[in-house]
Amino acid sequence: MSATIIDGKAYAAGLRTRIAEAVADMARQGATPGLAVVIVGEDPASQIYVKNKARQTVEVGMRSFEHVLPASTSEAELLGLVAQLNADPAVDGILVQLPLPKQIDAQKVIEAIDPAKDVDGFHPVNAGKLMTGVPGFVSCTPLGCLLLIQSVRKDIAGLDAVVIGRSNIVGKPMAQLLIGQSCTVTVAHSKTRDLPEVCRRADILVAAVGRPEMVRGDWVKPGAIVIDVGINRVPNLAAGEGKTRVVGDVAYAEAAERASAITPVPGGVGPMTIACLLRNTLQAACIRRG
Ligand code: GUN
Repeated sequence: MSATIIDGKAYAAGLRTRIAEAVADMARQGATPGLAVVIVGEDPASQIYVKNKARQTVEVGMRSFEHVLPASTSEAELLGLVAQLNADPAVDGILVQLPLPKQIDAQKVIEAIDPAKDVDGFHPVNAGKLMTGVPGFVSCTPLGCLLLIQSVRKDIAGLDAVVIGRSNIVGKPMAQLLIGQSCTVTVAHSKTRDLPEVCRRADILVAAVGRPEMVRGDWVKPGAIVIDVGINRVPNLAAGEGKTRVVGDVAYAEAAERASAITPVPGGVGPMTIACLLRNTLQAACIRRG
């Protein structure tokens, strides 16, 4: 079987175009949506994410408020900034980039964000809404995964879905989204017994473990939809000493021989995360500004 390659880059570009049109409408009424992004410290991966977020925010016509704080920032200082952003009428969405330095309790910061501006969907109020089927903000990466799944198969009710990974950011909300679509969902993790066999039951397989190419081709049920959330940097021996390349959590070439559809890495789930963040920010602005 030759799998459909799910082009997340193209899907995300289309989504951003639709968002930009809606933002232009709002701007004409003097209600330009605004997204505040806070980064603490100098984690290089976080700096790249934040730069991309700010660029794409401006590209869709929104206002971008960037707050770059030193690694020595105290919890009280960060909570002070969050309170200021909560109160700022120009700010519709707030994102505090994770991870945070160890002197700051990330959960405390997440809980300090106004749930109406929590475009990451990490606040317990929004996590609870997702769990109970009430509209709220959904974590961007799982939301992007669901949109990609639905781009190849609209009705997924009754399908067996396996999510590998149980993080609050990806695994758990992904499972909740799939339950919301009436899938039969298994959440697998590091303690799961016979993971390959569990995966072989999946009509939809979502890998979010952060281990390069862990999911092998023979773990994939023939015809399955495979969504690879992993972004792992590994040595690129063919390119020479010190060179690296990015691979997912799925052994792509092997899995593509059995799947009906599969996301590549890069160019699959990755571009969807920021596009969904902008979607959530637009949603926040529409609700807040009426
Ligand atoms: N760090 C890595 N991914 C994310 C994300 O989606 N949101 C936030 N706030 N931090 C992250």
